[in-house]
Amino acid sequence: MQNWLDKIYKTTTIEELETIRVDLFGKKGFLTVEFARLKDIPNEQKKEFAQNLNEQKEVLNKALELKKTELFNAELEKTLKAEKIDVTRFNASTSNVGAYHPVAYTMDRIIKYFQNLNFAVEIGPMVEDDFHNFEALNLPKYHPARDMQDTFYCKDMMLLRTHTSPVQIRTMQNQKPPIRMIAPGRVFRRDFDLTHTPMFNQIEGLVVDSSDKISFANLKHVLTEFLQHMFGDVEVRFRPSFFPFTEPSAEVDISCIFCGGDGCRVCSHTGWLEVLGCGIVDENVFKAVGYEDVSGYAFGLGVERFAMLIHKIGDLRSLFESDLRLLGQFK
Ligand code: PHE
Repeated sequence: MQNWLDKIYKTTTIEELETIRVDLFGKKGFLTVEFARLKDIPNEQKKEFAQNLNEQKEVLNKALELKKTELFNAELEKTLKAEKIDVTRFNASTSNVGAYHPVAYTMDRIIKYFQNLNFAVEIGPMVEDDFHNFEALNLPKYHPARDMQDTFYCKDMMLLRTHTSPVQIRTMQNQKPPIRMIAPGRVFRRDFDLTHTPMFNQIEGLVVDSSDKISFANLKHVLTEFLQHMFGDVEVRFRPSFFPFTEPSAEVDISCIFCGGDGCRVCSHTGWLEVLGCGIVDENVFKAVGYEDVSGYAFGLGVERFAMLIHKIGDLRSLFESDLRLLGQFK
């Protein structure tokens, strides 16, 4: 029996130990064979023989059990050491690096451009009242121009703002001229198609100074420089238009960046892409905020439209689908 015990003590792996267990207790194992011999032992020796065998069985079983635990613990210790994870280690090759969303990137670029020209960044609430969103902007109740900006109404004539222009009003109510501001933010309209989503981002611009200071020429210069900064070497065209809060008003086009002005599908074969609205601030707007003897210009642009043109994205809605196949291209 000492032999067996020595063997057990000397094993270094669980597999080796298992072999010994089979050699002892398996079908042809030592103890199995010994127990089988019991029937041939003369009766008077049977008791002693069996007792002795049972004792051996117990001792060897215990030794196997103990050794198994010991080996198991040792092995566990070894794997734990080998598989130690360094949680501070940064593995750049497998990690997914985040990136600016094209809309955020475009927004950022536009804001930085105007900050460099000393424009302050103003923000206003997304749930607006009728006065700031319409009335003060020379859009009286029941005026047909309101139809252009149908929106989502809450109770008590509160609504989701249809443009960032109410921030013009709020800023003028809270500050004295001169004013030079932009207002980036989310706006809402009841539209949904290839080029319209019910929520989108605008950037508003407003410059106000004493009555003799601001002219259409200022507006034209600032916007032309801005658009050439954003789109490169493009032609800029001011086209007469209408907004209730500016007079005169203009819509601004750039020569098509896809065809260079020759005409293509994107520019509907006109050679021009409309990118923003602007004009000289209407007298009635100044009246609504109690400003006197001032002049000013204002403009408003859609950030998603800029992002689509800059990144050549065909469907506006894809900017809001969080599809990594699209977003992954902007790392
Ligand atoms: N608020 C206008 C719109 O959303 C854009 C605009 C702003 C036009 C300022 C002129 C001046 O359509």
